Amino acid sequence: MDKVRFGVLGAGRGAGIARAMKYAPSAELVALCDMNEERLRQVVAATGVTQTYARYEDLLASDVNAVIVASPMPLHVEHSVQALKAGKHVLSEVTAATEMEQCWELLETVKSTGLKYMLAENYNYQRPWSIVVGMVEAGVFGDLYYGEADQIQEFKGGFHHPDSGYNWRTSELALRQGHQYITHNLGPLYQVFKERIKTVVCLGSGQRHLEWAKADSTCVVLLETETGRLLRIRLDFFSDRPNNFTYLGIQGVNAAYEAPRGPQDEHKIYVHGRTERGAWENLWEYQDYLPEVWKAMPAEAVNDGYDGGSSIMVEDFARSIIDDTRPPIDVVDALNITAPGLLSEVSRARGGKPVDVPNFTG
Ligand SMILES: NC(=O)c1ccc[n+]([C@@H]2O[C@H](COP(=O)([O-])OP(=O)(O)OC[C@H]3O[C@@H](n4cnc5c(N)ncnc54)[C@H](O)[C@@H]3O)[C@@H](O)[C@H]2O)c1
Repeated sequence: MDKVRFGVLGAGRGAGIARAMKYAPSAELVALCDMNEERLRQVVAATGVTQTYARYEDLLASDVNAVIVASPMPLHVEHSVQALKAGKHVLSEVTAATEMEQCWELLETVKSTGLKYMLAENYNYQRPWSIVVGMVEAGVFGDLYYGEADQIQEFKGGFHHPDSGYNWRTSELALRQGHQYITHNLGPLYQVFKERIKTVVCLGSGQRHLEWAKADSTCVVLLETETGRLLRIRLDFFSDRPNNFTYLGIQGVNAAYEAPRGPQDEHKIYVHGRTERGAWENLWEYQDYLPEVWKAMPAEAVNDGYDGGSSIMVEDFARSIIDDTRPPIDVVDALNITAPGLLSEVSRARGGKPVDVPNFTG
């Protein structure tokens, strides 16, 4: 197989991935499926794709090799399992699952079908973060022992009142406590710490903005990895302040990195023995660590507004199918970065008591 033939389910976020696919040489956008005809028409106009479907069953009956599941979050497992059982590889939008039982169902189905599954965690593919990953892999940070991330993204106007009818964002992100969208933050940290989360603790500030919402205005999740490294993640969809939804920071024995804290800030790096003591250097001074694939990327291929590399992500997945290798964020990785968010809700309900995360390889 030279190219993987992809079908995309969901013409919202799915439209962005469909456009990014143009820059993934091992992927071919073949078909699009959405029950919303107007949305479907818009993506057809933007991408020129000719095979379209209103029913998911019809997409699964078509000759695509792989499906990109970009339907609403609570449907990811149902739609991924359906695709796998129909013999299609799956690239699923985030998060992998919205309930713990779904995690096991997904794991079992991927194992029993032997097909490829990858989580489309595009935050692992941001350009500045790719420099940091290159530096971690080259040993510049030494032993990593602390990581942090913030998802501060004022979105309260986007949460529809529950009386106005079912809306998946309201039900998952405004009516649940804990961090239900954790993979954007935990995904990149897990990518460099390379070990599963053992324990989760979550506390919240209470809801200060929408009288009907149950989610905290801000919550903080603390995570301990298998070998005792510490991670801290803040979620806030409500506060009136500048957004900061791509903040990441890591600390190793030899170096520290902090993403911009806000609009006037920079990507900062400190390398012990090289950087002037007590000062930061600009991360772009280290852009030699950027993978070659980024250096070759045309500017128009960076299509998600925050220096993301969705086309590199799709290419990685397509290559894993063609070469029969492990996808970079396989099903166990996907569950290792999704389940701690689901269990943060349990810790929050117990007043911040630590909750163990199951071992999906055990
Ligand atoms: N990675 C990112 O940065 C990022 C950004 C935005 C959204 N997302 C994720 O992508 C997913 C989709 O988000 P969105 O904003 O596009 O949501 P959305 O609700 O706007 O769009 C979902 C689309 O799926 C279609 N759909 C649902 N079930 C279907 C079915 N059975 N058959 C055919 N069509 C069906 C709907 O008609 C709708 O157009 C979510 O899980 C979200 O978390 C990720």
